[in-house]
Parts: sequence; C-alpha cells; structure tokens
Amino acid sequence: MPNRLLLAAARRENLKRFITNHRFTRSVARRFVAGDTLDDAMAACKDLESLGITAILDYLGENVASETQVDAATSAYLASLDRIADAGLDAHISVKPTQLGLNLGPDVCILRLRKIADAALATGSVVAIDMESHEFTDGTIDSYAKLRETHDNVVLCLQAYLKRTRSDVSKLLYLKPSIRLCKGAYDEPGEISLGRDATRASFKELLATLLASSDYTAVATHDDTLIAEAIELAGKWKLDPSQFEFQMLYGVRRTLQSELVKAGYRVRVYVPFGTQWYPYLMRRLAERPANLRFFAEALIRG
Ligand code: FDA
Repeated sequence: MPNRLLLAAARRENLKRFITNHRFTRSVARRFVAGDTLDDAMAACKDLESLGITAILDYLGENVASETQVDAATSAYLASLDRIADAGLDAHISVKPTQLGLNLGPDVCILRLRKIADAALATGSVVAIDMESHEFTDGTIDSYAKLRETHDNVVLCLQAYLKRTRSDVSKLLYLKPSIRLCKGAYDEPGEISLGRDATRASFKELLATLLASSDYTAVATHDDTLIAEAIELAGKWKLDPSQFEFQMLYGVRRTLQSELVKAGYRVRVYVPFGTQWYPYLMRRLAERPANLRFFAEALIRG
C-alpha cells in the first residue's frame, strides 16, 4: 500500500517548492520521468522499442484549474498521437480524467475524451484512462462506459485496492471492457480500501475474472507473485498472447521488463513526460519509500 505519511507530506506546498526547484531532486525525478518534452518521451519510446517493449505516453498533469488548461492538455495528447503515427510506433496514450477537466464537470471531460479517442481511432491507436483518487471513480467509470459505446479503442484502469472494484467489474462486463488492472496508488480511507495482503488477493481474483471474460487485459504490476499468477492462468487457459500484456512504469524493474520480453510476453511501459511531474514522483516514492535513498544521496552529493 502507498505510504500514507509520504502522500500526506507531498500535499504541503513548501515541500513541493523545495523538491521541484532543487536541481538535484529534479535529476532524481528523471529516473521515473522521460523528460520535459514530447521529444524526450519519443526518444524513450524508441529506446524501449529497441528492447522489444511498447509504450504508453502520459503527458503529466492533473487537477486542472481551468478549461484553458484542459485544452492545452488535449492539444498535447493530439500532438502525441500524431508523433506516434509519424514514427510508426506501437504506442498509445494514457490520460488523467482531472487533467481533462473531470474536476470541473463531467461534460468538460467527456468532450475532450471523445476528441482524443476520435483522433486515436483515426490513426489506429488507443486511449487509456488512468484511475485517480476515489472522488473521481464514478465519473471516470461513467466516462469510460459512455465512450466505450462508440469507441473500442479505449482502456480503463481499475484499482484492486478499492473494495468497490469487484462490483464495478461485474457492472462493466456487458461492454466487453479493456481493463488495465493495477493495485492503486492514492491515499484512500480504510473504509473503502483494502490492506496490502487483501489487495493482492483482490488483484488475483479480478485478474482471473478479466482474463476469462474480456478480450484484452493489461496486468499493470511489478509484483512477482501477481506476474507469476498471470503467467499461470494464461498457460492453464491457453490464452492467446494478444489477450493480455504486462505493463510497468518507466524506470521500475527494467531487468524484469526485458526478462518477460525474452520469455515471449508482451510488455508495455508507461512513459510519463512533461513539467508537472511532482505528484507523479511523490506517488512513486510512496509506493517504495526505499526510493527516498536516491533523494538523500542526491542532496548529499549536492
Ligand atoms: P508493489 O508496490 O508491491 O511493487 C512490487 C515490486 O516492484 C517492489 O517490491 C519493487 O521491487 C518494485 N517497485 C514497485 N514500485 C516501485 C517504485 N515506485 N520504485 C521502485 N521499485 C518499485 N495507479 C493508480 O492508482 N491509477 C492508475 O491509473 C495507475 N496506472 C498505472 C499504470 C501502469 C502501467 C502501472 C505499472 C501502474 C499504474 N498505477 C496506477 C500504479 C499502481 O497502482 C501501483 O501503485 C504501482 O504499480 C506499484 O504497485 P505494484 O503492483 O507494482 O506492487
């Protein structure tokens, strides 16, 4: 489970200022973020491609304050789709609903989602929708369900740590959904979320349901036990390799990513880029507080 104290500390403005302005901590962020620009992200995708790994581009940003910012994020995604198509890369994009204005109203978000999904359809690409904190779960699932009626190139992320997810999956099955299953990265209240072991058990159960009933499942984890479970189910049920893929985060468990490719599995890596990397980085630190060591070392070196 993400480290609560770290996620709470991350909300303090003075910590944010310190981390985003300090050149040494910026350099640590580069372990998890491809760079500030789309060029940086495309270079990272090319490097991954040379290893047999496909990519998901994530233009960093969330909780926008205005429709102007929503439009800027939309333009960045449209530009990303163009670059992916021009480069002939097997890559798709992943959007955050509050980056497309879900926090300003559901209509603001769905309008932009449709525009992006249309553009992706035109170039044969895919749009994944990230799942954020629980205030946005209903709005995100509703947006996905609406979009899925007209677009089959959309993927929804669901979080195994939420108690509600089993019921959400059951309700979505009629759509033959494409789901990216992850554990969940936000600081959620105990009443609605599961602890560490129960999250793993929930992941296994949801994984089995999804692999058995949908055309495509993304197994988004770096957890050896869950990866082994997916491999075992795929073997037992003789799944076609196109029915699932492993997804991991840029900069996390690179050796494992390559090992899975060598073993014949599909691996796709989530490549974040842009200047708004602070909340993303803090979630990565909260998943694995041992990463704080990099910060300490960078500061000492500085
Ligand atoms: P776990 O955290 O137990 O990690 C297993 C092992 O992986 C660790 O022991 C360590 O070796 C390594 N590891 C994991 N995280 C690391 C890190 N940050 N740094 C270094 N090593 C690390 N969440 C969400 O709420 N909404 C979303 O939309 C998404 N989207 C998403 C897409 C993709 C492609 C991935 C892989 C993940 C997400 N997540 C997410 C994040 C997810 O919910 C979760 O927080 C992380 O994947 C970490 O959980 P694991 O399942 O990897 O297990």
